[in-house]
Amino acid sequence: MEYHRIPKTDIKISILGVGTNGVGGHNLFPNLDENKGAAMVRSALDEGINLVDTADAYGFGRSEEIIGEVIKSRRQDVVLATKGGLEYTNDGTTFNNRPEYLKQAVENSLKRLQTDYIDIYYLHFPDSDVPLSEAIGALSRLKEEGKIRAIGISNVSAEQLSEANRHNDISVLQSWYNMLDRSAEDELLPYCNEQGISFIPFGPLAYGLLSGHYTKDFTPSYDDHRSSHPLFAPGLYEDTIDRVSELKEIADKKGTTVSNLALAWLLAQQNVAAVIPGGKGPDRVQENLRALSVKLSKEEKELIEEVLDN
Ligand SMILES: NC(=O)c1ccc[n+]([C@@H]2O[C@H](COP(=O)([O-])OP(=O)(O)OC[C@H]3O[C@@H](n4cnc5c(N)ncnc54)[C@H](OP(=O)(O)O)[C@@H]3O)[C@@H](O)[C@H]2O)c1
Repeated sequence: MEYHRIPKTDIKISILGVGTNGVGGHNLFPNLDENKGAAMVRSALDEGINLVDTADAYGFGRSEEIIGEVIKSRRQDVVLATKGGLEYTNDGTTFNNRPEYLKQAVENSLKRLQTDYIDIYYLHFPDSDVPLSEAIGALSRLKEEGKIRAIGISNVSAEQLSEANRHNDISVLQSWYNMLDRSAEDELLPYCNEQGISFIPFGPLAYGLLSGHYTKDFTPSYDDHRSSHPLFAPGLYEDTIDRVSELKEIADKKGTTVSNLALAWLLAQQNVAAVIPGGKGPDRVQENLRALSVKLSKEEKELIEEVLDN
């Protein structure tokens, strides 16, 4: 396993991590098998993957609870990343970046995760009612107290990232980026590169679209989180499936899968620190590990560019 050191910290993350919004994340996916989710995290750690990505939002804390059980006997093997800044009330979900709320959110996550420190704590979403400086200030204090080791941020524009990073406090950016949506290349990736911020893309498989298993007749049900995503919108969705078929041809020729090609492509991008594909069971770990031995030649990269630029 290859590891990436997060600048300005002594945290080393495996370049393949495990994404867990399908582990106990029953607000997004109904009928999850929690035992399989726990087995996925266990299997990842057994394989030398140390980066476990979760959030207090996944299953309203259930994902953190499941992970807490899995890691309690091997905490030192894990780089634990979680997120906060969304609040759940009877009226629904709202952004909440108020310092006192974040302080309590960290305490709640620590309890669910059965640990006394979090390696990377992300502000999950910015909150227009709270200046980013205040939210990051609160996380900096938690860092000073030793409750979190590094500060991350997610779902921000380049302008917001730069505002949040005014005091050089941001170590990691987590942002949507994959072969099917490269908008992060415009400003976010260059900014991270310039500032020494580790970039970790979420949705590396475009919510599974880059698995190559989707067909044109798939329609997510209204309660499926994919139903509101633009890539699944009628019109664009059919074009996407055509593009994925072209990528599959490249993958077939190379003797790999589209999902492995997609992860290898991301890892080959400058300043992508790690990928965190999601899944619901241990088989995914074995499949995704194979991406680490996929090395793309200059010609293959050009061929992929042609498909993506089309
Ligand atoms: N910061 C944020 O706001 C944010 C937002 C979303 C996600 N995240 C984090 O990023 C992680 C990754 O994103 P994601 O899970 O939403 O999307 P993703 O990784 O792009 O896609 C996950 C989907 O890909 C499928 N998959 C995984 N490995 C595969 C393989 N080898 N072959 C075929 N299909 C495969 C999974 O299928 P199965 O479910 O059938 O196993 C799952 O449906 C999350 O788990 C979460 O930790 C963060």
